[in-house]
Amino acid sequence: MIEMKLVSKRFGKINPLSIDDYIKLDGYKNLAKALKMEKTEIIEQVEQAYLRGRGGAGFPAAIKMMGLAKEACDEKFVICNADEGEPGNFKDRYLMENDPHQILEGMIIVAYATGATKGFIYVRGEYQKSISLLKWSIDEAKKKGFLGQNILGKNFNFDIEVRSGAGSYVCGEEFALIESIEGNPGRTRVKPPFPTSKGLYNKPTLINNVETLSTIPLIIEMGGKNFAKIGTKSSTGTKLISLSGNVKNKGVFEIPFGVPIRDVIFKLGGGIENDRKIKMVQLGGACGPIIPEYMLDMIIDFERFEEFDSKTGAGAIIVMDERFDIFTVLLKVVKFFEHESCGKCTPCREGHIQLANLIIKFIERKATVKDIISLESLARVIHQASLCGLGQTSPTAIISSLKYFRDDYLDRIEHPERT
Ligand SMILES: Cc1cc2nc3c(=O)[nH]c(=O)nc-3n(C[C@H](O)[C@H](O)[C@H](O)COP(=O)(O)O)c2cc1C
Ligand code: SF4
Repeated sequence: MIEMKLVSKRFGKINPLSIDDYIKLDGYKNLAKALKMEKTEIIEQVEQAYLRGRGGAGFPAAIKMMGLAKEACDEKFVICNADEGEPGNFKDRYLMENDPHQILEGMIIVAYATGATKGFIYVRGEYQKSISLLKWSIDEAKKKGFLGQNILGKNFNFDIEVRSGAGSYVCGEEFALIESIEGNPGRTRVKPPFPTSKGLYNKPTLINNVETLSTIPLIIEMGGKNFAKIGTKSSTGTKLISLSGNVKNKGVFEIPFGVPIRDVIFKLGGGIENDRKIKMVQLGGACGPIIPEYMLDMIIDFERFEEFDSKTGAGAIIVMDERFDIFTVLLKVVKFFEHESCGKCTPCREGHIQLANLIIKFIERKATVKDIISLESLARVIHQASLCGLGQTSPTAIISSLKYFRDDYLDRIEHPERT
């Protein structure tokens, strides 16, 4: 069996509304253990685990923790990014709906280790069930002394508040998210300074994804070195995969890094509906590369994904069968980003409109070879000149399609008569 249920080990075994259920299955045990450790020792364990952020960029979690810990400020924040706006991703929702206390426990441990005083969970507005569950769980945790003043008898105070977005994709980007919590329109800021030195209300702030924070109690339990033995050298531990599209079994599966994409689709997803052939698979979500069937033996690993100029660690696999047309998919992707662009910088604001116009020419079989060149150079400009990760990653699908689906482009140019 290729599944390895560590972060998802309590899924289906506890009532997520019941803190007692969570405690019975070792919940908050790792918080108690962490509170007996030196703060630097906790960060060392995360460093030895080589935990990389699960929100997409794969940034080492320990470096952010060290950054926050060294800031001498009487007010510091930990934010859990639960915006999950990337199409095809729903693993954070599963974590919030199935094991909300694990997220809180991770946040409290991180706050203790870094000296943070207040936490926020920024939840996608559409996730009403997650929002209610988290609020309920925070109240329960307070009643048991895991949150609030003098947590577990220690001179450590920490509280968590839930905030929700209003459906904007860019609000998942860390600075846009911070602006949104502050009550401003969700627009990014120029980096540096990074949030760990100047974040929410200009105070030091650590932002991590739901899955990253959910993994912290596990690292305290296993020890960093043991955690690092799971997965591959550059990508340790496990990854929650959101599997969707034309597979028989859609859902969230936890696997160790290093499993081939093909195994996820066929062994966990049960193969393709009606046993059709696979035309293409999009990795990571709308911002990720589109690859053809012959590349499915590629393993799931941050390093491999980075070969596509893409930071797609969020773990979506969207399977499209032989009935799908690459240009219809690309148009949907580009239109999504055109709609979600915040409009702050020109390459992203104007570029997606022009990309869509070019793709429509291929759909209508009115394109020429010159349009391939224009599409490629425009995609590269948006990738290189955009201010935030939205524009920097949005052209990935187009760039990958130009590499792996060249024949589809040529067919549209060479056969204008076909329908
Ligand atoms: C446009 C855009 C949207 C993003 N949306 C999310 C999101 O929904 N959830 C998330 O965890 N990270 C998202 N990110 C990444 C965050 O900016 C940030 O890197 C992440 O929350 C850090 O957490 P991690 O280090 O644990 O991965 C997004 C980035 C960009 C550029
Ligand atoms: S890249 Fe797009 S979303 Fe990001 S700041 Fe520029 S216009 Fe806004």
